[in-house]
Amino acid sequence: MQIVICKDVAEVAKTAASMVAKLVRAKPNCVLGFATGSTPVETYKRLVGMHKEEGLSFAKVCSFNLDEYYPIEPNHEQSYRYFMNRYLFDHIDIEEDCTNVPNGRKQRDLEAIKRICVDYEYRIEKLGGIDLQILGIGSTGHIAFNELGSSFASRTRLVVLTERTIMDNSRFFDRMEDVPKYAISMGIGTILETRHAILLATGRYKAEAIARAIEGPITSSCPASALQLHKRATFIVDEAAAGALERKKYYQHTQKLLRDLEQGGKGAS
Ligand code: GLP
Repeated sequence: MQIVICKDVAEVAKTAASMVAKLVRAKPNCVLGFATGSTPVETYKRLVGMHKEEGLSFAKVCSFNLDEYYPIEPNHEQSYRYFMNRYLFDHIDIEEDCTNVPNGRKQRDLEAIKRICVDYEYRIEKLGGIDLQILGIGSTGHIAFNELGSSFASRTRLVVLTERTIMDNSRFFDRMEDVPKYAISMGIGTILETRHAILLATGRYKAEAIARAIEGPITSSCPASALQLHKRATFIVDEAAAGALERKKYYQHTQKLLRDLEQGGKGAS
């Protein structure tokens, strides 16, 4: 696990965007995993900027989003499909057919929803898996819509949202009753299979969840703690979100020494 502590929101976005850009340049047909929520918005803005100003091309990239509300129409302003189009897809050269967001349209029955979920997993597998997955974190420590108690072996499925998540997300809807009660979410098992997972967190409100994810026990009571089992997980957090980390100094020291090593500086000796 790598912990990168940045001074502010802008530096978090810059660090995350440059990791994505580096991969896209090295492997133009890579498979990216995107997240929604307010946290990655700045990172997406930077990627749009890199596309427009530096010619960073997503023409051969395919993408999978972590989750989508259920039931919701894709053109609903609060759907995650709408969010992705608005903040990223509409401004870069990614092929629309190559962008995957779980289908949150109302289905006839649970069987039909299950088919959507199985198909989502199948499509990820068919493209060779996700190279780089961006993640946010809920205030309870959830990742995607894997609520507390989600199995670490879980795959894409229908989940029932907790009251806390509904309340946290109600700020984006006109009324609390408008927030969908379900979602279709990649599972923790799906996320653990990604080649590189980058979790972004900013602000004091996320500090406790971040401390539990990084330094707490590995437990389904904090789904993000599953990333301690990930072969390559990077946490990119700002000072505020790093506020409750006990080993913060050590992470900063590590960060500095690794940077020195990269630059062939004095830390290398
Ligand atoms: C929702 C999403 C998560 C996201 C979380 C935090 O629950 N399903 O993927 O990480 O919100 O969102 P924000 O970045 O707005 O705090």
